[in-house]
Amino acid sequence: MRISTPHPGGPGPDIDLDAVNLADPQLYAAGDPHAIWTVMRERAPVHRQILPDGRSFWSVTKHGDVNDVLRDHTRFTSHRGTVLSVLGGTDPAGGKMLAASDPPVHTAMREPLNKALSHRTLKSRQPQIRRVVHRLLAPLLDGGTWDVAAAAAGFPLAFTGALMGLPEADWPRLTRLTTMAVAPDDPDYRESTGDSTLTAAHHELFAYLSGQVKRRVRHGVTEDDLIGFLMEMELDADGRRLRHDEIVYNAYSLLLGANVTTPHTIAATVLALMEHPHEYRRLLADPSLTNSAVEEGLRWASPANHFLRYVTQDITLRGQELKAGDAVVAWLGSANRDEEVFADPFRFDVTRSPNRHVAFGFGPHYCIGAPLARIALRLLFEEIVTLVEAFAPAGPVEHLMSNFVAGIKRMPVTAILREGAAQTLAEAVAADGPVPA
Ligand code: HEM
Repeated sequence: MRISTPHPGGPGPDIDLDAVNLADPQLYAAGDPHAIWTVMRERAPVHRQILPDGRSFWSVTKHGDVNDVLRDHTRFTSHRGTVLSVLGGTDPAGGKMLAASDPPVHTAMREPLNKALSHRTLKSRQPQIRRVVHRLLAPLLDGGTWDVAAAAAGFPLAFTGALMGLPEADWPRLTRLTTMAVAPDDPDYRESTGDSTLTAAHHELFAYLSGQVKRRVRHGVTEDDLIGFLMEMELDADGRRLRHDEIVYNAYSLLLGANVTTPHTIAATVLALMEHPHEYRRLLADPSLTNSAVEEGLRWASPANHFLRYVTQDITLRGQELKAGDAVVAWLGSANRDEEVFADPFRFDVTRSPNRHVAFGFGPHYCIGAPLARIALRLLFEEIVTLVEAFAPAGPVEHLMSNFVAGIKRMPVTAILREGAAQTLAEAVAADGPVPA
């Protein structure tokens, strides 16, 4: 998604909100959603859109409302699905997959899984992730053009794939399939129509993951990897385990959650650092700012652009009457620019504090992969700050055509390395050897 800065007196006031289509994937490939959201936050913070086929949804764009919708599962359920691509239907994963369940079913699945993905458990993975980071950055040694977006696309699977126990040979195909599932209208990922691309991607991913579960049944399950953990974890005191379809749905959710978000945070943050060279110089001067720069990168990128809920009872929100069964879309990208919460929200500030961004959501469904994503992003940017003096654009930035994932699919850059950095990186890569799964 293009990250624009609406200008005071710019096109904003002229925007006709009744003509705006926030569901249109093209808006996020070439349009200007931030200009629209800025007007919405001011003039229509709870706004109803009717699609040409008669389906409709409410949009909430303010930080406080986005928090309320994501937090309160009694009024806003996840059970019928949480993304616009399944608007108005019923989600077959409802009540079976963490992301599409409400408490108490959600809590029973979430508690054991939380432990497997806690910061403490993942600490031992850091050396492996650092090796993946070296491998990702190694092309910089050539001194030529480096496509940050293309390189970052494979980054999550290089550690999540290992964590889930998925064979390395399958990672490139899984990377493509997960992007097809979130950007089925993008010409680079479309196979015939958007709908059939989505169906094809789901079909292949579910069949693949089902095969992975069956293989573990045949060869003996171990809890060493996350799929094995899903198979063995107990949901209640009676020792109930997940059924086959529940394991597959949750494995899909973990795979998708990691794959389609982390790379876009990397590309958008590098882009922001190129566009705000002063902020990169601050980071070079004080690398202890890396954590706060990563948080600002998450706010800036908001790679998970929206999540959807359905209203369970008639309610009034900022004077608008929502009926039971209505769909409500929480636009995270907009909440993360809410001028009531973030001072000067369109300024990229590596020292921003406080930074109460909602890039990982809020409430019971708060991203379960956040500790892993934060570790990986911190290790990557620590290494970038050690190695790179400056990035420069080397071609046009191309954005993903998706209303769900705010993504960058191509971003060629060149990098000037810091003194001695080439040797440091070459030594690190040589010392690492192959990255063990
Ligand atoms: C920068 C990286 C990431 C971002 C921005 C992100 C964003 C989000 C957001 C906004 C939600 C809330 C969904 C909702 O409210 O309905 C969420 C949930 C989730 N994420 Fe992430 N995510 C990231 C990385 C990951 C990783 C690395 C994993 C897997 C290891 C993951 C797996 C999940 C799962 C399974 C859920 C559902 C949690 C639940 O329903 O309780 N995510 N993520």
